[in-house]
Amino acid sequence: MRVLVLGPPGAGKGTQVKFIVERFGIPHISTGDIFRQAVAKRTKLGLMVKQYLSEGKLVPDELTIDLVKRRLKKKDTWNGFVLDGFPRTLVQAKALDEMTDIDRVIYIKVSPKEIVRRLAGRRTCLSCKAVYHIKHNKPRKEGVCDGCGSPLRQRDDDKEDTIRDRLEVYNRQTVPLLRYYSRAGKLVTIDGSLGIEGIAEEIRKVLG
Ligand code: AP5
Repeated sequence: MRVLVLGPPGAGKGTQVKFIVERFGIPHISTGDIFRQAVAKRTKLGLMVKQYLSEGKLVPDELTIDLVKRRLKKKDTWNGFVLDGFPRTLVQAKALDEMTDIDRVIYIKVSPKEIVRRLAGRRTCLSCKAVYHIKHNKPRKEGVCDGCGSPLRQRDDDKEDTIRDRLEVYNRQTVPLLRYYSRAGKLVTIDGSLGIEGIAEEIRKVLG
């Protein structure tokens, strides 16, 4: 099971990947999470990528490809993995083809208006990275993670200006991947306007 989840920022990729991971017991590889963790820990990688993330720009291909290449060499990926947020450019997609064979590409299709609504209301756990929404996916206690009790916060790149920039970057650099994977016969489009459970059910039908 080597799956890739594609979609605009805030489509609900991370939310759905959590269900895939639980069902198949395969690792979740999110380049965004890896970068954010590096920034939080102020590692060398974190210092290199900090500005790209805060401005909603893509981290350079070379750096991102090298990171994923090293991650896919780890033993826990031998039975499969879910990639979330990678690839994001044609250069990255071609590099991935040289690393491994992807079985399915799940594309969660969501309108720009809905994206702004989802991102503006997103709250993330500072500690375990669980994702909530102030209306659609509320924690039991406001501002506190259900899983680990840590505080929830808004991501730095979930400000309205940065959301607009991220969408523009997505349209220019990532949308061409839809054609790339469609031509390869791997793309499955899921209606992202459904609720969280509805989308999970559609993905379950696709992955079995
Ligand atoms: P990354 O972390 O990958 O961000 P993204 O693609 O913008 O995606 P998000 O994490 O914002 O959204 P999501 O689709 O996972 O939605 P979520 O499930 O949280 O990347 C961040 C940055 O890192 C990039 O800008 C770039 O700088 C860098 N980067 C990362 N990968 C890179 C790469 N390959 N190359 C170069 N640079 C890279 O859901 C959103 C909200 O909606 C939540 O509140 C959720 O509760 C709610 N929600 C989810 N589903 C539904 C639903 N069905 N109905 C209603 N609400 C819903």
